[in-house]
Amino acid sequence: MIEQIYKNVLKPVFFKFDPENVHDRMMRTGKALGNTGFGRALTRAMFYYEHPSLRNNVAGIDFKNPVGLAAGFDKNAQLYKILPEIGFGHAELGSITGAPCLGNPRPRLFRLPQEKSILVNYGLYNQGADVISHRLASARFKIPIGFSVAKTNDPSLGLEEGIQDYRKAFLRMHHLGAYTTINVSCPNTSDGITYQDPNKLDLLLKAIAKEKHLKPVFLKIKSDFTQAELGEVVDIADKHPWVTGFIISNLRTNRVGMNTSKEQLDALSPKGALSGLPVQAQSNNALSFVSKRTDKILMGCGGIFTGKDAYEKLKNGASLVQLVTSMIYEGPTVISKINRELVNLIQADGFARISEVIAEARS
Ligand SMILES: Cc1cc2nc3c(=O)[nH]c(=O)nc-3n(C[C@H](O)[C@H](O)[C@H](O)COP(=O)(O)O)c2cc1C
Repeated sequence: MIEQIYKNVLKPVFFKFDPENVHDRMMRTGKALGNTGFGRALTRAMFYYEHPSLRNNVAGIDFKNPVGLAAGFDKNAQLYKILPEIGFGHAELGSITGAPCLGNPRPRLFRLPQEKSILVNYGLYNQGADVISHRLASARFKIPIGFSVAKTNDPSLGLEEGIQDYRKAFLRMHHLGAYTTINVSCPNTSDGITYQDPNKLDLLLKAIAKEKHLKPVFLKIKSDFTQAELGEVVDIADKHPWVTGFIISNLRTNRVGMNTSKEQLDALSPKGALSGLPVQAQSNNALSFVSKRTDKILMGCGGIFTGKDAYEKLKNGASLVQLVTSMIYEGPTVISKINRELVNLIQADGFARISEVIAEARS
């Protein structure tokens, strides 16, 4: 019923307006609902679902279900009070950078409904690690919250300054969350540089290695990779036991084989990268490859719209999954829908709990 209201009434209205304006309005609504007991209870009554078979301990953290919010939806960490009531098992907030970032000029988000995708050219818009860490200094979180950190989108920063910027964001955010993600794969920086390049990644990890690692640390990587390139990234990270695992993957940068032509995409945003369904197959391939290459813990992200999509990521080696785009296209009911479908899939395959599915996939 709520799903139908979202799809047939709210979504057609939302989709008439600029995506970023709609998103900003959603943020204000979510923040307001999270700030009152009534708002939280109402949201919980409408969306929340849990089932014992979905509970799991991953990297020493207890999760009520495997479905998390991926980075990029709550860039300034404002929704942490309402996200647990919608039914997320965890949420990754950010990406948060060393200095505040205005991001790329607007418009920088474009809906591609025929692709079930968003073309994203945000460029790491956020208030920066000082403001956000100060605001959250005494916050308490109901579900595991991960903070994603990235390098400030400023092309004047050289390699060493870039590493120091990452380090600053890491130091500000690491102690606050249940885990920290180092986003080395943002595709929308104004200089187009990511720290996933093996030399840069090696230097970045050597710098962060010197800091205290109080919580699990994940690396978020892209899936536009040959297996050789992916293998190199994994091997570099494998030298660092404090790197707990990988989140696979970030947005897709290649525009090959889409229903929408490259020219049409270029006309919208030449630098934008793709979320949603176009990421699904390549991120699953990358996940499967990495799961055979390393014992590190994996989170699967990219194109999850159904329980079957999430289950496929678990079967490919993920212990947790994350999503953004399906929530934008289908509304917040998609989280409980995916969790319910997961319970059915786990039981249909003769498993009692999700940890058994994951253990079998990684054996
Ligand atoms: C609007 C938008 C903004 C995003 N911003 C970030 C970000 O700041 N940091 C990050 O690591 N990933 C970011 N992402 C990537 C998502 O976290 C995710 O990896 C990707 O969208 C694939 O998941 P999905 O298909 O469920 O959307 C963003 C995605 C979208 C759609």
